[in-house]
Amino acid sequence: MRSSTLFTALVACTSSVFAADKVYGAAEGFAKGVTGGGSAAPVYPTTNAELVSYLGDSSARVIVLTKTFDFTGTEGKTTSAGCSPWGTAAGCQIAINKDNWCKNYEPNAPTVSSITYDNAGVLGITVKSNKSLIGQGAKGVIKGKGIRMVSGAKNIIIQNIMITELNPRYVWGGDAITVNNADLIWIDRVTTSLIGRQHYVLGTDASNRITLSNNYINGVSSWSATCDGYHYWAIYLTGSNDLVTMKGNYIYHTSGRGPKVSGNTLLHAVNNYWYDSTGHLFEATTGAYILAEGNVFQNIKTVVETPVTGQILSVPNAVCNTYLGRACQNNGFGSSGTFSYANTGFMSKFSGKNIASAAAYTGVAASVKATAGYGHI
Ligand SMILES: *[C@@H]1O[C@H](CO)[C@@H](O)[C@H](O)[C@H]1NC(C)=O
Repeated sequence: MRSSTLFTALVACTSSVFAADKVYGAAEGFAKGVTGGGSAAPVYPTTNAELVSYLGDSSARVIVLTKTFDFTGTEGKTTSAGCSPWGTAAGCQIAINKDNWCKNYEPNAPTVSSITYDNAGVLGITVKSNKSLIGQGAKGVIKGKGIRMVSGAKNIIIQNIMITELNPRYVWGGDAITVNNADLIWIDRVTTSLIGRQHYVLGTDASNRITLSNNYINGVSSWSATCDGYHYWAIYLTGSNDLVTMKGNYIYHTSGRGPKVSGNTLLHAVNNYWYDSTGHLFEATTGAYILAEGNVFQNIKTVVETPVTGQILSVPNAVCNTYLGRACQNNGFGSSGTFSYANTGFMSKFSGKNIASAAAYTGVAASVKATAGYGHI
């Protein structure tokens, strides 16, 4: 074989192995077994309308993003009143007066007579059952609109994309990823940044089996509810019957709700890397059941907000062997607040479930930084 022919053959082989337009790996933890669009032939939307149609129709689909889909401006803008419950400094977020929220919940907040926001950001794209939405390399970006898996949506994989720029100055300007009344959802290697409200919101109906893995939640913003450049609204897990595995995620530069857990949610937080928070991470109110192991907490002012009225196990305990079939891992801490809870009463909820493996925390910061978010596969 001539060397140029050999070279061509090698390139073809390499690109088919590494740039194959299919789901990479498989879900671990509660959403294990999710297949998304399965073996459907990939489709390549070229317009926003095509993307919305593929995600929202009733066919099993593998939808591959090869470019940025920019929704900003596509649904017009709204100019209306708002309020400033978090302060009036330039770096503070402003609330849109959605459903009269300012009057009902923040009657003493200074009003803002006129703000203009992008309509597309407010409500995400509907994703129906049996879909895989994947990005090719670092090309798959959805700008100005999030995604929603609701109303019975089941068996969905979202992998290797970025969602960004949802009215970041305005609370109620949009959530990046919404799950509610769903089952078997795997969100993997997704980057979210510059979001108005929640990066992730699960609730209040049952979201059932969910795995959030290797995602990059980037909380850097010029506008924040804590007015300090750190995004407050990170992860909201308040579904009524939710099993959530969070593994290998990189949660960076936030100041609150990272995550807020309640409402009968069993959260297995394992091998995540939380770095740099000026506020709190966990909120654990009634109905929160949290096993946190093998995570790294670096420069986290408050790991858990008190009082804790839910249940948390954050130190290894013999009960891990009983219900996980293995020991739990220690969490690691650097320049962070304390996190030492030994509630074990909820651990039987893990019985019979698919449970993610856990590595020692020592290698977690490096491995998470190398893999989390879009563009690494
Ligand atoms: C999803 O796929 C499963 C298995 O093929 C099928 O039973 C189910 O009806 C599909 N769901 C929808 C909403 O199409």
